[in-house]
Amino acid sequence: MSDEERNIAGYNGLTRVEPTLPSEFYLDADHYERELRKIWYRNWLYVCRASELRGPRAFSVFEIGSQEILILRDQNEELRAFHNTCRHRGSVLMREPKGRLPGSRITCPYHCWAYDLQGKLQRTPTPSEQGDFDKADYSLYDVAVRDWNGFVFIHLEPENAQPLEESFNGSHLLDNWPLADLALGHTYEKILHCNWKVFWENFNECLHCPSVHKELSEVVPLYKQHLMEVQDDPEWEAHQRSGDKRYKQGLAEGKETWSKNGSACAAYFPDLNEEEIARGHTYCETVPSGFIVGHVDYVRVLRLRPLGPETTEIHVQWFFREESLADPAFDASGVVDFGQRVIDEDGAVAELNQKGLRSIRHKHGALMAEEYAVHDFHVWVLEQLG
Ligand code: FES
Ligand SMILES: [Fe+2]
Repeated sequence: MSDEERNIAGYNGLTRVEPTLPSEFYLDADHYERELRKIWYRNWLYVCRASELRGPRAFSVFEIGSQEILILRDQNEELRAFHNTCRHRGSVLMREPKGRLPGSRITCPYHCWAYDLQGKLQRTPTPSEQGDFDKADYSLYDVAVRDWNGFVFIHLEPENAQPLEESFNGSHLLDNWPLADLALGHTYEKILHCNWKVFWENFNECLHCPSVHKELSEVVPLYKQHLMEVQDDPEWEAHQRSGDKRYKQGLAEGKETWSKNGSACAAYFPDLNEEEIARGHTYCETVPSGFIVGHVDYVRVLRLRPLGPETTEIHVQWFFREESLADPAFDASGVVDFGQRVIDEDGAVAELNQKGLRSIRHKHGALMAEEYAVHDFHVWVLEQLG
C-alpha cells in the first residue's frame, strides 16, 4: 500500500517506520534513575483509594523509586502528603507502612522533633534553641495530594505540578461512572520482570491481541483484527460502510462486559449512554502511573510502580457498587478471573520482551503501522527526558 493510499482521512496508523526507544533505556541503571527523576518524580501518581485512608490521623507511606512519601489525614480529615523525612538531620519519620498516628503530632523517632499534621515544626527536644533558629523554616517537605473521585494522587514537585486533570488522556471520559461511590471488591498484585515502559508499550497496541488474548479477542472483535480502534484500519471507511461485524467498535454481539461468559455481574451503571454501553470498556489513562477502565458493571484500576530497571509492580483493583458487594448472592469471579487472565497474558509477553532486549545486537526495534500509540508514548518519554 502506498503512503498516499494510507493517507486516508481519520486513519490512525503510522505511515512510516518509526524506531523504538534504544534498548539501554530498558536495562541501564543510570538511565532508570534518570527516568525516576524526570518522569516519576515529576508527574501525578496514583497511590490508593481515598477510603484506604479512613478517618483522622490515618496514614500510609508510599514508596516510589528511592522516595518515601507520607500521606495522612489531618484532624479535619484533609489529605496531606510530605516526604517521610525529618528536617533535623534527615531521619525517616514513620517506620510503619500504614496505620493511625497516636496523637496530633508526627514525632521523629531519632531526636523527637515534632510536627503538626500540617507539617509545621512544633517542638524540638533542646532547651537551648539558638537565637537564629526559627521553627517556621523547618516545616516538612510538602508533596501535592489530590482526591480525584475517590482516587488519591500525589505529585512530588508541587510547585511544578500541572493540574491533575491534564495528566489524563481525558478526565471527563468516565464522567458517567459513579467513581466516587464505588467500593473495592478485589485486589491483584504482581511483580513483572520487565521495565515499566514495556508494560505501557504492550498496553498501547493490539498487534499481540489475537495470539496472546484468545478469549478477550472473542469479546472484542476489533482485537481479533489486531486493532484497538476502528480508525486503526486503513480500510476503515469501507469496513464501516459495509457494516462488517469483524470491524465493529465495541463488544461482540451478545457480550455485555469483559468477563468469562461476556455477561455483566451486576446491573449497569445507570448514567451510561448507549455508546458507552455498546463500547463495553472506556479507558482513562494517566501516564506513567496507571489507568482506570469503566465497564458497564464494574471499574478496574491498574497502578504501575517501577521497582528497578527490569522490575515493575502492578497493582490492580476491581470496584463495584457497595450494594452489589453487600449482596450474598453477588459473584464477581467471572469478571475478576477474566481480568487476571488478561493481565497474566500481558505480563508473560512483557517478560519475554524484556529478556530479548538484553541481546547485545539489539540496539532498537521498529514500529508497525498499528503501533502509533506506542510511538506517541515514546515521543512523550523523550519529551519528559528533555
Ligand atoms: S533526625 Fe529527626 S529529630 Fe533528629
Ligand atoms: Fe494485551
